[in-house]
Amino acid sequence: MQITLESKPFAAIEMEALVSYVFEETDPVQGRVAEIDKSAGGLLRKLAASGELTGKTLEFTLVHAPAGLKAARLLLVGVGKREQFNSATLRKVAGAALRYLKSRSVKNLALLVREGHPTEESAQVIAEGILTADFESDKYKTDKKNGKRIESVSIAGYSDAEREAGEKGLAKGRIIAESQNFARDLINEPSNKLTPAALAQKAEAMAKAAGLSVEILDEKRIADLKMGALLSVAQGSIEPPRMVIITYNPPSPKPSAPVIGLIGKAVTFDTGGISIKPADGMEKMKYDMAGGATMIGVMRALAALKPAVKVICVVPSTENMPGGRAQKPGDIQTAMSGKTIEVLNTDAEGRLILADGVHYAKQLGATHLIDAATLTGAVVVALAGINVGVFGSDQAFTDKLLASAKVAGEKMWQLPVDDEYREFIKGTVADIQNISSGKGGGATIGAMFIKEFTGDSPWIHLDIAGTAWNDDAKPWLAKGPTGVALRTLVHLVMSY
Ligand code: BES
Ligand code: ZN
Ligand code: ZN
Repeated sequence: MQITLESKPFAAIEMEALVSYVFEETDPVQGRVAEIDKSAGGLLRKLAASGELTGKTLEFTLVHAPAGLKAARLLLVGVGKREQFNSATLRKVAGAALRYLKSRSVKNLALLVREGHPTEESAQVIAEGILTADFESDKYKTDKKNGKRIESVSIAGYSDAEREAGEKGLAKGRIIAESQNFARDLINEPSNKLTPAALAQKAEAMAKAAGLSVEILDEKRIADLKMGALLSVAQGSIEPPRMVIITYNPPSPKPSAPVIGLIGKAVTFDTGGISIKPADGMEKMKYDMAGGATMIGVMRALAALKPAVKVICVVPSTENMPGGRAQKPGDIQTAMSGKTIEVLNTDAEGRLILADGVHYAKQLGATHLIDAATLTGAVVVALAGINVGVFGSDQAFTDKLLASAKVAGEKMWQLPVDDEYREFIKGTVADIQNISSGKGGGATIGAMFIKEFTGDSPWIHLDIAGTAWNDDAKPWLAKGPTGVALRTLVHLVMSY
């Protein structure tokens, strides 16, 4: 999709649709919307008077052949109260407008930003909104959305003086959105197409193309390094495991700067293993590699955005299968760190592979750890598909991430991890056990297990089990993989 900044006055823009947005206030026809109204001979005031234009969130008002405008249609989208409006709203509205028009076979559109909004940030979030909204999971469909395709979008309302900022934001937004869609493409792949080896290959190809250093550990190297927790999950599958390591080195590194470790769970299919899952809905477990895909996507964006800090991405990848060689409940495994684990439930496999992932990231020099994982059904119970579950060992670091999440427009909610929960995973026959001996707090227990391997390093765990996959389409995003957490993590790293 082509995205450009348009400098023509809005009335002269010859697109299939001109889009702008309206605040919910006593008189919704103000500022640039009032200018449109003037060009269109008072049309919008009439719509407002009849109650068809109120500015209520995601209200769509579509007018064909508007008088006084060169555009074939005028679309006004409600964005709610002016005081509550922010960039996160603009991102969603831009996406929702694109999907609304795309479904009506529109091929090109112009989005007019409101007075006061022509900034770098606006252009960035509009680019993010429209590119992520345009994404469809139709790779394996031979009939692609009946040929409905958005070919070009122009962002209007920037003066010549504001243009440079707009171009900058647009370029940045494109990098971030395309990286998010790259992650979503990976998450969409079924497990017969995306084995751990195939995932590693795609990660390697991306890293090489982006100019990042990359190393892939095969099953032999993984065994040599004594990554017993990862191997224990992998032993049940004929598909060998992989550990993907991608490193971003800043052009001029500061000696005192932190080294960020990004660790992502990449179980390419989670049957549960011997503690097998019920058949109903099991097909969804192809997205159990979303954490890994997201971290790989973050690295893709960072390669282009060039932050000032070093980032090491570690993605342990395996299938979790039952079989003649599969680990069994009660088996005791030794993680790379040397800790012994009693595997009481083979379906709590994500924490096992992350145990070796975080330990290895530390060994490679990461000082600050962040992991992302579709880790627990319990986080879905707690937060549904709305918020990412956030757990952190260092409040200042966690607050920094939560602040980035706000800017990125990704909802996240902090849940506790504290030592009182340790009791629940204290081992009876080994050092620790992979599930709780008590009741409740499942998402925290999963986090507590990973924490055992982080030592004193500031660490954040993101449980994306509920948010990495949309069961239903949203007005601004298709059904399927979301790529959640990518924008937050990119913003966090860029803020150093
Ligand atoms: N991949 C699942 C978690 C999951 C559940 C992701 C639902 C997405 C949707 C994870 O490996 C798992 O099976 N966790 C178990 C842990 C339990 C055995 C302690 C769970 O949440 O049921
Ligand atoms: Zn599982
Ligand atoms: Zn899993």
